Amino acid sequence: MRMGTPFSDRLLVRWRACLSVRGTAGSLCPAPGPARTAVRGTPGGRRQGWGELEAGTVCCSFLFIPPRAPTGSQTLAVTSFGALPPFQHLCRAGRKRWHYHSHTTALITRFPHAHPRPPPRARPRPSARVPAARPARPQPGTQGWEAPPRAMAALGGLAAGALLLLLLLLLLAAGLYCCYVRHVHAKYDHIPGAPRESFLLGHLPIVWRMLEKQELIHDLFLQWSEKYGPVIRFNAFHRVSVMILSPEGVKEFLMSPQYPKDRLVYGRIFNMFGVRFLGNGLVTDRNYEHWHKQRKVMDPAFSRTYLIGLMETFNEKAEELMEKLEEKADGKKEFSMLTMMSRVTLDVIAKVAFGMELNALSDDRTPFPHAVTMIMKGMTEMRIPFVKYMPGKQKMIKEARESLRLLRRVGKECIDQRREAIQSGKEDTLDILTQILKGDALEETRDDENILDNFVTFFVAGHETTANQLSFTVMALAQHPEIMERVQAEVDEVLGAKRDINYEDLGKLKYLSQVLKESLRLYPPVPGTVRWTEKENVIEGVRIPANTTVIFSTYIMGRMERYFEDPLTFNPERFSKDAPKPYYSYFPFSLGPRSCIGQVFAQMEAKVVMAKLLQRFEVQLVPGQSFKLLDSGTLRPLDGVMCKLKPRSLPKGFQA
Ligand code: HEM
Repeated sequence: MRMGTPFSDRLLVRWRACLSVRGTAGSLCPAPGPARTAVRGTPGGRRQGWGELEAGTVCCSFLFIPPRAPTGSQTLAVTSFGALPPFQHLCRAGRKRWHYHSHTTALITRFPHAHPRPPPRARPRPSARVPAARPARPQPGTQGWEAPPRAMAALGGLAAGALLLLLLLLLLAAGLYCCYVRHVHAKYDHIPGAPRESFLLGHLPIVWRMLEKQELIHDLFLQWSEKYGPVIRFNAFHRVSVMILSPEGVKEFLMSPQYPKDRLVYGRIFNMFGVRFLGNGLVTDRNYEHWHKQRKVMDPAFSRTYLIGLMETFNEKAEELMEKLEEKADGKKEFSMLTMMSRVTLDVIAKVAFGMELNALSDDRTPFPHAVTMIMKGMTEMRIPFVKYMPGKQKMIKEARESLRLLRRVGKECIDQRREAIQSGKEDTLDILTQILKGDALEETRDDENILDNFVTFFVAGHETTANQLSFTVMALAQHPEIMERVQAEVDEVLGAKRDINYEDLGKLKYLSQVLKESLRLYPPVPGTVRWTEKENVIEGVRIPANTTVIFSTYIMGRMERYFEDPLTFNPERFSKDAPKPYYSYFPFSLGPRSCIGQVFAQMEAKVVMAKLLQRFEVQLVPGQSFKLLDSGTLRPLDGVMCKLKPRSLPKGFQA
């Protein structure tokens, strides 16, 4: 048998007879045809020796390569006898009939350079060629030097070997990973859920398709809940999350401090594009002890007495918004209600929490409000898989990073000024910043980064959510004129021509409270929360294995027939005094120890803004909007609630 590639060199081989070879051990069997017998072993039972083999000759396989073949030696043929009949034929072509061991391997090695000296060759046969004297070879690095083809071939062989090894390792790793995925599936497959679209990707392709169509993934889970029940699994690679849509599960997991927030979900917002974002602030902190200490010092800034003191700021900023809206209220100008609401809530949180006058309402292109807008945009975009590597997104990423740095820099200045003021006894405001600083003073080691985490956290958590709630409420009211009429009547009755709303007035605006609650049922700005369970649980008769991510959604439960009659109808009567309470099926501010610290703050602010808006304007929605929801970390109206306004004929006695 000839090798596929002829070799021009003579090959020096060391052979060793297999012990099972009888008789002529030590001889080599030549191949027929043009290749000549070039190897001479030592007859008479010697079991090893050196010989020379001309290229293209293939020997029978008891020819053996030394166990420590030098680096660069090249294997030309590796085979087992039984597998290659031509070999057998060749072997029989010799003078004697060969017996060989069927597992003997034939290897012919080419030794490129240095090699232990072979034993002296037997007398050359007359026909043997006398090699011509070779010219001196150029040395490596000198002119005309070329890597010897054998060395190149050896290197190539090595590279091919390494590649093959790598491929084998990759295949092995992939195989092991698939086994692991199968093992994970087996652990969770008893939990109801939609069929996986792919073994590895699980349900991800369905999600990607929905995202492409700008559809809300929560609506898919809502459909699944109707089909598969209140406990559903979601597969993505080797991770399986379990969505729990039952009051029993909500009570068990959210009311207890023993289930921390999920590391993977909350860890993702520690940084934004490599710059520290929410870090270990109050929303993302997973360490119960650390979180508890932070929360305890901040609670006084959200006490009822303190919040009553904020009514003045709520009124002042809401009034500024009304002035801006009056400029637009000609019944023709179209504008995004979401944009206006975002500006006012940003001004409120900056003033109330940190004593800063941002004036975002007047001009949101000034650096700080613009930075907050860019950060919120970054938050939306960072949810897109591999966005960091997309060339088209690099400008946005750069801007988001710079905005975040600016926010933290301004935060640092603000903190330093306040520290100085406190130390010199000039400042005694009980705002959120003072509380954050008090919390820091209790720590053994000062951690300015953690203070900044909370600075960013309150800006983010304290303005977008309320702005989204306000815009959704305007949208829902404008779609339901009869409800709008009723709530306006209540506002007229409670406020009349009054300009400044006080805390007692808020208590009297009962129907407005119901409207705001119903808006949060259908359009919760924070759709849910995620926990991690280290122990096994049984919810609704379904076993949830230990070490699982569990997801809770007020958006989905708020739209389930099982908990709310005619769930897609906007009906504030569900929250009237006598209506049954939706225990553990409605939690727009979450529940239990990790529930929203700003809940009362947000609802007071929302009521002041809404009451003034309803008192002064007739709202009309610009036709042709989709009214879809966008999940950007928070849920917000996709089209921004485009509106036109007209001034209402104000009640008698109103003084602008
Ligand atoms: C309509 C407005 C708001 C809604 C719907 C809302 C909703 C929520 C929800 C659902 C959570 C729990 C998040 C989670 O489990 O991951 C939360 C936490 C939080 N919210 Fe709000 N929020 C609103 C307004 C505010 C405001 C105005 C502030 C600040 C002034 C605020 C500050 C916070 C903070 C600091 C946390 C973390 C609490 C903790 O873990 O101790 N929120 N909010």
